[in-house]
Amino acid sequence: MIRIAIFASGSGSNAENIISHFAVNENVEVALVLSNKPNAFVLERAKKHQVESLVFSSNDLNKSTKVLDALKEYNVSIVVLAGFLLKIPDSLIQHYPNKIINIHPALLPNYGGKGMYGMHVHCAVVQNNESTSGITIHYVNENYDEGAVIFQATCNIDPTDSPEEVQVKVQELEALHFAKIIESVIA
Ligand code: GAR
Repeated sequence: MIRIAIFASGSGSNAENIISHFAVNENVEVALVLSNKPNAFVLERAKKHQVESLVFSSNDLNKSTKVLDALKEYNVSIVVLAGFLLKIPDSLIQHYPNKIINIHPALLPNYGGKGMYGMHVHCAVVQNNESTSGITIHYVNENYDEGAVIFQATCNIDPTDSPEEVQVKVQELEALHFAKIIESVIA
């Protein structure tokens, strides 16, 4: 059995899609959802699917072994970041080399880096009158949004699109591809 842990800070639509995708796969399971936000809706979604969850603080992540201990306890071999907004410490990356996968809501290397997350990305894309955006699924290394790209998908942006409309298009791509790409990486 391959066990996945999902780190998420927000709504958790990606996390829920991944949980549902692997619920019918007898070789892979989402064993744990971790969040740095005690009120994040992703925790409700995990509960609904009977997936265990763990809330931790930034200090827990950076100055203790709480998170790593949990990953070991649940025999996690793949870590997925699905809207997770803290930087993963180098110590964790070293324990999971090329085993941590992130999704970014734009076409990296554009619109990446610190502060570029969620709606901030879509606002910047619209402000710059881009005609395309999309998603990037990539391995996580020690630098924000700079790990090797696994997959990208593109959507068109109409000149009249609002940031919210771009977000909807990007979320459609996320729902279509993220879980499948994780599955292909595991295989
Ligand atoms: C997703 O669009 C994801 O690509 C983005 O946060 C959103 C989380 O949505 N991630 C980042 O911006 C990371 N820099 P969700 O909580 O509904 O899955």
